[in-house]
Amino acid sequence: MALLEVSHIDTYYADSHILFDLSITVEAGEVVCLLGRNGAGKTTTVRSIAGLTPPRAGAITLRGRDIVGLPPFRIARLGIGFVPEDRRVFPNLTVHENLEVARRTWGNGSASPWSEERVFDLFPILRERRRQAGGTLSGGEQQMLTIARTLMGNPEILLLDEPSEGLAPIVVETLREQLGRLKASGLTIVLAEQNVRFVSDLGDRVYILEKGTVRYQGSMARFLADDEVRRTYLAV
Ligand SMILES: Nc1ncnc2c1ncn2[C@@H]1O[C@H](COP(=O)(O)OP(=O)(O)O)[C@@H](O)[C@H]1O
Ligand SMILES: [Mg+2]
Repeated sequence: MALLEVSHIDTYYADSHILFDLSITVEAGEVVCLLGRNGAGKTTTVRSIAGLTPPRAGAITLRGRDIVGLPPFRIARLGIGFVPEDRRVFPNLTVHENLEVARRTWGNGSASPWSEERVFDLFPILRERRRQAGGTLSGGEQQMLTIARTLMGNPEILLLDEPSEGLAPIVVETLREQLGRLKASGLTIVLAEQNVRFVSDLGDRVYILEKGTVRYQGSMARFLADDEVRRTYLAV
């Protein structure tokens, strides 16, 4: 049984039908990449999994248990941590306080719990910024803090929505290494991205979305060897 199985979902915003019969499978320990141009449906897919825009048809199962219709906080407690694209940190709270709020809200006592120290080992810059207000951090630091906050809930699966977007190349490189360490620690990751270079060393498998459906799926190696697929679905 796959850790996470999205089967044949249809998702809407009000009357707008956005995802059509979309299916993806995520095995434990994998990094699964959702690629596709702007508007392809990547955000809607991760929001569907996180319970923010539940699908109207189809199923989403976590270790066989259907989670469609559960409120987002319950889905988070079951082990699915969502890092939205808009980097939500509390601007007036310090880095330490942001992490503390997350720990109290989401801490679920898993076997390998995240602590502030462990988070700082992964993101050393946050240790230096510990007493600084979230709102004064750079974009990259806010992205790291948003991921750190989510890790404090001890997720089993991390959903990341375009983490590299808008960040300077050197910061993107740092973030890529940090996500590589998270992968090496065994965390399962679903990574929605447009930046193929960012995901090429991280991802195990790729799904390409277009107009709310899966157009391609395959291993990262197969995808990288296929210029035609990249031209068809990803070239701007
Ligand atoms: N709140 C919304 N209301 C209506 N349509 C939306 C909303 N958010 C996104 N969409 C539409 O859904 C489609 C998929 O968007 P999205 O999932 O954000 O794609 P991506 O993340 O791949 O850029 C797009 O056509 C977009 O215009
Ligand atoms: Mg998006």
